[in-house]
Amino acid sequence: MAKIISGTKIAADIKNEIKQEVAELERTKGVKPGLSVILVGDNPASKVYVANKQKGCAEVGFISEEIKMPDTATTSDVLKEIDKLNKRADIHGILVQLPLPAQINKNDVLEAILPEKDVDGFHPVNMGRLVAQQECLVPATPSGIIELLKREGITIKGANATMVGHSEIVGKPCTLLLLNEWATVSICHIETRDLKMHTKDADIVIVAAGVPYLIKEDMVKQGATVIDVGINRITADKASPELLEWRKADFDVKGATLIGDVDYQKVEPKAGFITPVPGGVGPMTIAMLLSNTIKAAKRLSK
Ligand code: GUN
Repeated sequence: MAKIISGTKIAADIKNEIKQEVAELERTKGVKPGLSVILVGDNPASKVYVANKQKGCAEVGFISEEIKMPDTATTSDVLKEIDKLNKRADIHGILVQLPLPAQINKNDVLEAILPEKDVDGFHPVNMGRLVAQQECLVPATPSGIIELLKREGITIKGANATMVGHSEIVGKPCTLLLLNEWATVSICHIETRDLKMHTKDADIVIVAAGVPYLIKEDMVKQGATVIDVGINRITADKASPELLEWRKADFDVKGATLIGDVDYQKVEPKAGFITPVPGGVGPMTIAMLLSNTIKAAKRLSK
C-alpha cells in the first residue's frame, strides 16, 4: 500500500505560509501583492481555472483582478493590456490564461510580459534562466511537483526519474528542476518506442500525458514514487464497471468523474508514494502560482 500524497493538505500549508509572508510584506513595505489575470474568450475550463486562481488570491490576502477580453480580440489588443499591466506598480504578477483563440499569437503575448511579473514562468527569459540555473520564476505545476517530493522527504538526488510528457508547461521544466536537484532523468513522449522500458526501473515516475490508464502496474517498480499530473474527465458512458463502482458518488451527482493518467487502483498497491486525482498535483498548481506572485512582489518592492 502506497503512502497517498495529499496535495490538498500540502497546498493548504503553503497558503498559510504565504499568508504570513503577505502580512510581513505589508508591515515592512506597505505592499499588498497584486495579480492580474487576462482571460480571452469564454472557454469553460479556462473560466473555472481563472475563478480558482482568484479564489486562491483572496485566501492569502492578495489583490487580484480579471481582465476579460472577447474571443474576437487581436494580438495587438492583448499586447496593449499587457503593456498597461507591465507599467502598473500595484500589479506584481501577470498571467494570460491559455489556450488563446487561434488568431492570437501566443509567443508574442508571452514574450510581452515583463519577465519579473511572469508568474507562469512561460517567458523565454525565465525558461532560459531555469536552464542556466539562475534565479527565476518557474512554472507552477512542475515546481509544485518538486515541492510535494521535498515535503514528503522523497530523495531526488541520485534518483532515476522518468518524466512522461514533454510539454513546455509541465514536462520540460519539470525535467530541468529534477536535473537541478541531481536526479538522472529520462524524458518520454508520444514517439517513445517502449514506454515501459523507461518507467519500470524508475524511482520516480511523473506522468503528464493526458492519457487515462497510460501507466499500469507492470510499468512501475515496487515502492516507486508515482506523480500523476493527468486530469481526464470520464463520463458514465465511457467508464469501466470498476470506475463506475469506485466513483459511484461522482457519477450519481455529476454523471462524470476526474481521473489521472495512472491506473490508480492497480498501481497504488505497488507504489511507495502516489498522488491521487483529484487532490494531488492539482491544488499545488495554484499554491505555487501564489508563491510565485509573493516572490515577484517582494523582488519588485525591494
Ligand atoms: N492553461 C493550462 N494550464 C495553464 C497554466 O498553468 N497557466 C496558464 N496561464 N494557462 C494554463
